[in-house]
Amino acid sequence: MVSYKELGLVNTREIFAKAIEGGYAIPAFNFNNMEQLQAIISACVECSSPVILQVSSGARNYANQTLLRYMAQGAVEYAKELGKNIPIVLHLDHGNSFELCKSCIDMGFSSVMIDGSHLPYEENIALTKKVVEYAHAHDVSVEGELGVLAGVEDEVSAEVSNYTRPEEVIDFVTKTGVDSLAISIGTSHGANKFKPEQCTRNEEGILVPPELRFDILAEIEKQLPGFPIVLHGSSSVPQEYVKIINEYGGALKDAIGIPEDQLRKAAKSAVCKINIDSDGRLAMTAAVRKVMIEKPAEFDPRKYLGPAREELKKLYMHKCENVLGSAGKAE
Ligand code: G3H
Ligand code: 13P
Ligand code: ZN
Repeated sequence: MVSYKELGLVNTREIFAKAIEGGYAIPAFNFNNMEQLQAIISACVECSSPVILQVSSGARNYANQTLLRYMAQGAVEYAKELGKNIPIVLHLDHGNSFELCKSCIDMGFSSVMIDGSHLPYEENIALTKKVVEYAHAHDVSVEGELGVLAGVEDEVSAEVSNYTRPEEVIDFVTKTGVDSLAISIGTSHGANKFKPEQCTRNEEGILVPPELRFDILAEIEKQLPGFPIVLHGSSSVPQEYVKIINEYGGALKDAIGIPEDQLRKAAKSAVCKINIDSDGRLAMTAAVRKVMIEKPAEFDPRKYLGPAREELKKLYMHKCENVLGSAGKAE
């Protein structure tokens, strides 16, 4: 059993309170390997942003849970070495059981998500409450979820009926004791968030997706004034990366994300954590594909993972500075 406090990590309490007060959101970037972690830390140190390092169950399986935990511990030291002691949270993304959350808490995570959003309401409450009781005994923060994020394969009607119901949020938060709440207002995971037929075209012929349901967000804020809200599925799917990937042999079709101006708007509200994974995947893939095609004789992984890491760093800094507004908030 190791406490995150011994590792130099922080829970989300203070950084969320400051983010709501200041009208910005903390970036929650997923990582699975060293280059992603280096890019996240060097970007957030350079622009002085607090950061949430997210580990999914998939990441735990891919990279090994123990290794990831030591990498996060190393990230704290790396940030100091780069010259800034920024607040760093180590967070379990989409935990699906009490046992998984407990195991993360016991090995040094400072925050966990228990995602009971697919369960019947009362079961979601019971599972979330159980995680909160264990987590709070160790001063670890808990994110719960109400409402189901739409998948691109879902029917439109299912998407509509799965938005978070504002009339449930007070009851859920009170009964579970969660520290933050992930909601569903039109975002979704992956690089295909909307079907082209759901979008309109602007003057330049670019597909514009439907607006997020800011009306539902406003209603939730009215029910829970000042309570930390989380947005999953918030990648913007930069079209310049999609273009590079496809130009260099990729086959991404109908890749559409959440426009950054909508995320900027959300960050100014009670949304204080914005999850971004797919954009990093796209940045990395674009950079690697380019090197592979332009330098076919290259076989040193540092020669393609290095440029990928540079591209990731640029992306993360852009998110903090121009989208989430978290740059400069680690001061
Ligand atoms: O919400 C999902 C995250 O993008 C993590 O994805 O489960 O493939 O690691 P993953
Ligand atoms: P994206 O797929 O939009 O990056 O969302 C990531 C996420 O929500 C991780 O939990
Ligand atoms: Zn998610």
